[in-house]
Amino acid sequence: MTKAKRLRYLFKSATVMVSLFALLAPLSAQAADPAVKAVRGSFFDFVDDPWKHVGKEEESARFLPDGMLVMEDGIIKDFGPYSELSSKYPKAQVTTVSDRIILPGFVDGHVHFPQTRVLGAYGLQLLPWLQDWIFPEETKYKDPEYAKVGVKHYFDNMLAAGTTTVQDFGTSFPNAVEAFFDEASRRNMRVICGIGGIDRNAPESFRTPPDMFYNESKRLIEKYHGKGRNLYAITPRFAYGDSSELLSMCGKLHKEYPDCWINTHVSENPTETRNAPLEHNTKDYLGCYEKFGLVGPKFTAGHGVWLSDSEFSRLNKAGASISVCPISNTFLGSGLFRLGRATDPNCRVRMTFGTDMGGGNRFSMIDVVDHMYKVGMCNNAMLDGSIDPRWHDDAESERNKLNAYRAFYSITLGGAEGLYLDDKIGNFKPGKEADFVVLDWKGGPPATAWHQSLICDKPATMKEAAQLLFGVMAVGDSRAVDETWVMGRRLYKKGSDFGLASTGTKSTNK
Ligand code: GUN
Ligand code: ZN
Repeated sequence: MTKAKRLRYLFKSATVMVSLFALLAPLSAQAADPAVKAVRGSFFDFVDDPWKHVGKEEESARFLPDGMLVMEDGIIKDFGPYSELSSKYPKAQVTTVSDRIILPGFVDGHVHFPQTRVLGAYGLQLLPWLQDWIFPEETKYKDPEYAKVGVKHYFDNMLAAGTTTVQDFGTSFPNAVEAFFDEASRRNMRVICGIGGIDRNAPESFRTPPDMFYNESKRLIEKYHGKGRNLYAITPRFAYGDSSELLSMCGKLHKEYPDCWINTHVSENPTETRNAPLEHNTKDYLGCYEKFGLVGPKFTAGHGVWLSDSEFSRLNKAGASISVCPISNTFLGSGLFRLGRATDPNCRVRMTFGTDMGGGNRFSMIDVVDHMYKVGMCNNAMLDGSIDPRWHDDAESERNKLNAYRAFYSITLGGAEGLYLDDKIGNFKPGKEADFVVLDWKGGPPATAWHQSLICDKPATMKEAAQLLFGVMAVGDSRAVDETWVMGRRLYKKGSDFGLASTGTKSTNK
């Protein structure tokens, strides 16, 4: 070979090597990428509303007995059987979770963080309970230190209950809402909150004059809405406690910030349900919010125990949501929510389920579905919740029954849909945020281990998994929550303060 030929040959070989390297480099970089994390275990989630599949609810769910959830930067990158995905991601850091069922993180659509220290107050219906227990306690949140300690305690309890997303009522004091968003940001949780507007039927020191409410809401929207995972809800506390001026400020804020959520209460207790429409000169309770242009998508009202058929129908048409709060509705004696009516296929109303803690005396969404099962059974026994047997409707009666599919859908994907957050959370679809809860089906009170082992020791089919999940809600409780993960990071592990310590907080669940 001449010198010139040798040089040409060397040059060609080098070019080929460089091209090959350029081709392979991205592949090897991806395979070695330490940012790709995965969890291997049994997964259960939902792809549809089980009330659309009456009698065949399993069509709305997915169960992977040996699945793999692949995550990058806290976002779900892939999801499927381990046998298929393990070779696609050979270098992913895999955490294996055995003898557990993994579900999307629970969504609590209606809760009051400033009531953390007074849940379980004895013996009063809504209106005297607010005056005697709630307004005095929430007033303490004016003190920044009191608020700061309160929100830490609140989020510790939420994570220990498997809840990763909340729609919360801030109290009357903006500093408490700031403490809430700051603590949620430290944990990187997907949350919705806002100042609770109230300027009537409350002590003077607790009221939010309409101007102050408007200005402070605006300031907090600018500061927090859409920053990280924080979202702002314009929050008229309830029409019984709000003047027309305050509700019209809410309408004004809604026009200026159409992207924000709206959160309130409706038709919870008979006394306020009678009085709110009288004070706002409307035909019913929902009308108080309609009058100010508030009812539409991203509007949620808690409770809805005394809603008329007309109000259900208007909520359906508006694309608005009701938050179903059975623990609170029974604890405060408010009434029985008509689940079968809300899920009428001709007039389906979006729903979230909520603890309404402290009106609800539990933090746990597992307890919420346990209570809703019983409320549904009462309504079911009374045919459809109607008192007059001539209104009997078999199909409505059946829809009151909360089987495992309906229950766990309602606190995962259903909750996300109720909040218009189902593009971000609610199931294991790639592109969504990796929030999930690891359930130990034998982890409740002593009776659960025995009861659950009668069903099976390790679910191999969707039917077995659903039976175990029903056992978790009916025999177990939030002690079934073994781990809670937020954006691909484990923030709670039963029996340790792993994760919480790194946020500067300490677990209260030991
Ligand atoms: N209506 C207005 N405020 C409240 C509250 O704090 N809890 C409940 N359950 N209902 C309300
Ligand atoms: Zn409430």
